[in-house]
Amino acid sequence: MTTHTDEILVLGATGKVGRRLVRTLRAAGRPVRAASRSGAVRFDWTDRRTWSAALEGASAVHLLAPEDPALAALFVKQATEAGVSRFVALSARGIDQVPPRFFPGMAAAEEAVRDSGARWTILRPNNFSQNFDEDVWHAPLRSGHLALPIGAVPEPFVDVQDIADVAAAVLTSDGHHGRVYELSGPRALTFEAAVATIAEAAGRPIRYTELTPEEYKADLLAAGVPEETADELNAMFATMRAGHFAEPGTGVREVLGRAPVDFATYAARAAAAGAWD
Ligand SMILES: NC(=O)c1ccc[n+]([C@@H]2O[C@H](COP(=O)([O-])OP(=O)(O)OC[C@H]3O[C@@H](n4cnc5c(N)ncnc54)[C@H](OP(=O)(O)O)[C@@H]3O)[C@@H](O)[C@H]2O)c1
Repeated sequence: MTTHTDEILVLGATGKVGRRLVRTLRAAGRPVRAASRSGAVRFDWTDRRTWSAALEGASAVHLLAPEDPALAALFVKQATEAGVSRFVALSARGIDQVPPRFFPGMAAAEEAVRDSGARWTILRPNNFSQNFDEDVWHAPLRSGHLALPIGAVPEPFVDVQDIADVAAAVLTSDGHHGRVYELSGPRALTFEAAVATIAEAAGRPIRYTELTPEEYKADLLAAGVPEETADELNAMFATMRAGHFAEPGTGVREVLGRAPVDFATYAARAAAAGAWD
């Protein structure tokens, strides 16, 4: 059996970013450990017995933040002791603008890699375009109606493949230590315009309705979302309404030397794959 000592441990490997990152790294011939609770390599934040086997042979880690902030520094310390010398932490744009009680795991993961003594890079993406076809807004769009409390503030949605391409580049090339990259699409558009773009690409009517934060919270609670999560999501929309990350970020071009994927291109590709049929 060959034992690698230069493998890249990808946490969240079955998720939207992680599975694209695994594919991208493997296509470039890099050895990858694809880890999550249901991944090829078992890794569970809440079961520390899974950590050391996941870290075996890894020299770099793509770090998805844990929910429990206390786990971030513990994991990063264990990883550096196991030989990891490079971290890429997937965070979020605006994380330094939301009240600290929200998304504490992400803030802790950023802090842990900064304090690690290893090379580190932080990726702060905007809202993902793929939330519309692979995640939370998919079912509402298929039913023909999305309702959120965002107002007319535009959002420069980022294509998840761009995040994966940036993560792959940062994990496998030098010059990114200590950098925080803000990742977005090339232009900001309102949610109403995003839904109209999708409706046109899908060739069917889909409506967008504006909600108050109170109406949004009531909808989430009625759908069985825990109150804490509903408040966290409302805090994220409040940060977005304040316009803190409405301007496109420059990270995709800085790292990849090319323009990010535009929302209309994303929508056309997803529609062609039948996302909203
Ligand atoms: N969606 C957005 O618009 C957006 C914007 C900015 C930042 N972000 C951040 O980006 C990250 C999300 O990435 P994503 O969208 O690729 O994720 P995702 O599609 O939601 O998938 C989550 C991944 O984490 C794994 N996972 C869940 N619980 C776990 C646990 N207890 N232990 C180990 N692994 C666990 C899941 O796999 P298993 O179920 O197999 O464990 C899966 O691979 C999150 O930190 C999110 O907050 C998202």
